[in-house]
Amino acid sequence: MTRNIPATEWHPARWQGKEAQQQPTYPDQAELDRTVAALSKLPPIVTSWEVDALKSHIARAQRGEAFVLQGGDCAETFDECTSENIVAKLKILLQMSLVLLYGLKKPIVRVGRMAGQYAKPRSADTETRDGTTLPSFRGDLVNRSAFTEADRVPEPQLILRGYERAALTLNFVRSLVDGGFADLHHPEYWDLDWVGHSPMADEYRGIVESISGSLDFMETILGRELHHAQRADIYAAHEGLHLLYEQAQTRYLERRGRWYNLTTHFPWIGMRTAQLDGAHVEYFRGIANPMGIKIGPGMTREWLQELIRVLNPNNEPGRLTLIHRFGARSVEQHLPEMIAAVRETGSPVLWVCDPMHGNTESTADGVKTRRFDNVVAELESAFRVHAEQGSYLGGVHLELTGEDVTECTGGARGLTDNDLARAYKSTVDPRLNYEQAMEVAMRIAGLRRG
Ligand code: PEP
Ligand code: CO
Repeated sequence: MTRNIPATEWHPARWQGKEAQQQPTYPDQAELDRTVAALSKLPPIVTSWEVDALKSHIARAQRGEAFVLQGGDCAETFDECTSENIVAKLKILLQMSLVLLYGLKKPIVRVGRMAGQYAKPRSADTETRDGTTLPSFRGDLVNRSAFTEADRVPEPQLILRGYERAALTLNFVRSLVDGGFADLHHPEYWDLDWVGHSPMADEYRGIVESISGSLDFMETILGRELHHAQRADIYAAHEGLHLLYEQAQTRYLERRGRWYNLTTHFPWIGMRTAQLDGAHVEYFRGIANPMGIKIGPGMTREWLQELIRVLNPNNEPGRLTLIHRFGARSVEQHLPEMIAAVRETGSPVLWVCDPMHGNTESTADGVKTRRFDNVVAELESAFRVHAEQGSYLGGVHLELTGEDVTECTGGARGLTDNDLARAYKSTVDPRLNYEQAMEVAMRIAGLRRG
């Protein structure tokens, strides 16, 4: 698994010599060490073949030949690791990818924020309620969300519980996909409630019929079934935040001569942990996975260029995805400079727009929400700026759910601040519900059609 490593060479624990942001402080070091050792012996969640396949899909998207749909919860929770939830998420991703395929006329690469999205960065280390201050909730991988002293203590065992749920989630997704659930010949398998009563239902059905018609036509001409259409791959992604979790499942593969993070296909570095001299960048530079870097208003030209040099020194295609999240109001101001800065490095990158994290706001009652119009406005601006700069926006990164929650306002059903209390389930950021998510997909498909 691990080998004898010369002190100067990169290895999965080398980040421990650097300053690591956003890591929990565990009271029991011995138990933590035992847990990490146990996790490092368990089988991987993904394989290097899958990781490399995703990298080649991303390389295609970098060349403008594919589009990447990334989506899922802000934070997965252990409680929501259920059959219904996983199926609903898979359904909405498949439905959206069908709409995008139809509108963009390009293969869609599906990447779930799932099977490991259990650790969250926090802007403050503590939270105060009614005069009581406790450590912040850092995601189910670390501690518990209930506001008691005992619940907020970081517990090493949760690392293993998270690994197990990630594996259960991906195992179920793989079985569904292999069993025919993602077959383009049967889009009716993916129907969600909204299809029955939404203002967008007719449009969606029209798209489904059109694609089915095209498939029939092709198969009639070819005289055989298109096997390629029977299986839509779903890849897994999460923020590579909790470095002991990532480290424990990082393996050296002799036949490839490289280290792989095998907890997920696609880890990303969040805005709060992208310091050049920090532990996260040190960890990420040594793994072979394709990876994302989140870019917000605080990013500078020099910082971004140096990140690219450190993380992709050989300009490898498929390696880097830049996920920008500037907010509807400042995307036009910041994005052109970032595009120019990247061009100077010579590294291929995939540009993806996250129209969620720059558009978070609070209602008068202090409820965290996002306005549908801001989400769409940021996307529209991003497509326009990339086109003006001769660049290609090759993907979208969304916080969404396959359920009928009320966390973001607006959309075809015109949800208002007053609706939020009805079905607000997220413990962290507000997600698009299934209908709002589909509407975003339709807007992207429409935007790109003309
Ligand atoms: C997230 O993706 O949930 C997140 C915390 O994003 P960012 O690092 O861009 O704020
Ligand atoms: Co979030």
